[in-house]
Amino acid sequence: MPKPLNIGMIGYGFMGRAHTNGYKRVNDFFDLPYRPVLKAACARDKDKIQAFATNWGYESIETDWRKLVERKDIDAIDICVPNNLHKEIAIACAANKKMILCEKPLAMNTAEGEEMCAAVEKAGVANTVWYNYRRVPAVTMAKNLIDEGRLGKIFHYRANFLQDWTINADLPQGGNALWRLDAAAAGSGVTGDLLAHCIDTAIWLNGSITDVSAMTETFIKERTHTATGQKQKVTIDDACSFMCHFGNGSLGLFESTRYARGHKALYTLEVNGEKASLKWDLHDLHRLQYFEYSDEGKMRGWKSIHVSDGDQPYMNKWWVPGLQIGYEHSFVHQVADFLESLGKGTPCGPTFRDALETQKVCDAVLSRAASRSWKDV
Ligand SMILES: NC(=O)c1ccc[n+]([C@@H]2O[C@H](COP(=O)([O-])OP(=O)(O)OC[C@H]3O[C@@H](n4cnc5c(N)ncnc54)[C@H](O)[C@@H]3O)[C@@H](O)[C@H]2O)c1
Repeated sequence: MPKPLNIGMIGYGFMGRAHTNGYKRVNDFFDLPYRPVLKAACARDKDKIQAFATNWGYESIETDWRKLVERKDIDAIDICVPNNLHKEIAIACAANKKMILCEKPLAMNTAEGEEMCAAVEKAGVANTVWYNYRRVPAVTMAKNLIDEGRLGKIFHYRANFLQDWTINADLPQGGNALWRLDAAAAGSGVTGDLLAHCIDTAIWLNGSITDVSAMTETFIKERTHTATGQKQKVTIDDACSFMCHFGNGSLGLFESTRYARGHKALYTLEVNGEKASLKWDLHDLHRLQYFEYSDEGKMRGWKSIHVSDGDQPYMNKWWVPGLQIGYEHSFVHQVADFLESLGKGTPCGPTFRDALETQKVCDAVLSRAASRSWKDV
């Protein structure tokens, strides 16, 4: 029988729902040493958090995250709130010996991230950061192919994360979901929100990034702030492009924007090696494109691998070969891996320490964009 693991969820927005779905479904599909129990959900608005708790099956509510973190009946806290709250909540969790599952980016900046790492490591509490794209089966499979040496020496890594939802100049900054446009809540714009995902996957697949050069742009200079009703300067980056070197000698090229008309959430990555190349696209997330040079010349070409077979990552837990899974399953997989790691007493990556590396790259990118020169990470 799996042991109960009492979850305290902070936030009920996009990620509050995605993670709760993961907690609810995971034991139906995975054989695990623990079973998440939806013990309490927390947000400031009592009616809204009660409605969320009732709908999703949480046993109780809190309106102050400090009370939740201090509750004796909570084992693990899930941080699904804007980025400016991650540090304070995580440090309070560590002080109360709670395990922490924290949304990305880890923090507003590297200095905050360092404090968070020190706190969880001192307390010895299990921790993970929700860079969930690692656990899309086709992306996990890319990692396995690279680790098996199938690509050989890697020359190039490129990734894009393109959206178009902030082109409208009337969109305010601040408030639910729109806190992303307010640097005081988000820390940065597309760099911390979207490129952080690309950087985490890149480091996981291709190793450390050693130095960067970058440019950013803020296309809409002023937006009304939801809190004040006044026009305020926009200080997030609306778009960011950066180049980098990896420790293995390969070159990286990354681009993200919320101004690419026609793209909703186009995360793509491509890796070019001496022996093979691979590419992946979030809009077609169950496929991995693969090219292998050792194929017979006349048959050589890109293969589109439908990642749905039992011998492909995670897929033996789901349906029959040929039937694909989707976005929400990446969160189910992260919960499964977290619980499995807990049983074994091993870390579940990306840990806070792993996510700090991504934070450092984000900071280096923003600092280089400001100064227009190369900088060591
Ligand atoms: N892994 C991913 O792919 C992914 C996707 C989206 C967002 N995120 C991250 O998840 C986090 C939350 O983003 P979201 O999209 O769910 O935002 P959201 O705006 O949909 O929800 C934020 C929630 O935080 C709550 N909240 C705000 N201040 C609070 C406080 N002081 N106390 C308690 N609750 C408070 C709000 O009530 C709301 O429920 C962010 O760090 C974001 O970067 C990650």
